Amino acid sequence: MDADTQKLRAAERALDYVKRGMKLGLGTGSTAAKFVDLVGARVKDGLNILCVPTSEATRKQAEALGIPLATLDDEPSLDLTVDGADQLDEQLRLIKGGGGALLREKIVAAASQRMVVIADAGKLVDVLGAFPLPVEIDRFGIRATRARVEDAAREAGCDGPIALRNIDGQNFVSDGGNYILDCSFSRIADPVKLGLALSIVPGVVEHGLFVDLCDAAIVAGPDGIQIIGEGP
Ligand code: 5RP
Repeated sequence: MDADTQKLRAAERALDYVKRGMKLGLGTGSTAAKFVDLVGARVKDGLNILCVPTSEATRKQAEALGIPLATLDDEPSLDLTVDGADQLDEQLRLIKGGGGALLREKIVAAASQRMVVIADAGKLVDVLGAFPLPVEIDRFGIRATRARVEDAAREAGCDGPIALRNIDGQNFVSDGGNYILDCSFSRIADPVKLGLALSIVPGVVEHGLFVDLCDAAIVAGPDGIQIIGEGP
């Protein structure tokens, strides 16, 4: 079973967590997009649900599928968010932001009673860090901010190249109008320490370490599905 099919299997299983009348956060990325498609099909079949998207891309997809949408200002408290991740560990700590939506994803997850991650098995790791950690920064003073991010990371035991995200020769700009630093630390031994250190750097808007936010992960592999954390 290839990674794409695994993503679909995880997305299908996440429907078990979705109940009638829920306020639901919709994640971003290729795995979350499969879940959004499935929610769209359920809505067509009469499921009554109100959704808050975590990005403009997801908003457009959900809108096209006829999924009833609200903003977090309309509905500041959600029942559940289902989202993908770039990496996760057995303690349900995540790296997110590969798709550049980490700020809204974290705000929506924090506003949700539960967060469920859906992923293919290749993303489950013993130690986070092989996937470069995205850090969203303000566009002002990026060289200074990058230097402070380097210092903070070093103090938290992390070292490695930090690159300003660039797509087709242009700096990547998030939905919030910010830039993203991709931090290749290889190994993040203490995600809590690193997250706290990054949070206090002036210019850092948000980082892609999600700690104490995820309640369950549905990880689909070639041999089936593993659920870490809470069941439906
Ligand atoms: C976007 C994210 C995504 O959830 C993450 O990048 C995983 O994406 P995919 O499902 O395409 O592998 O954090 O900001």
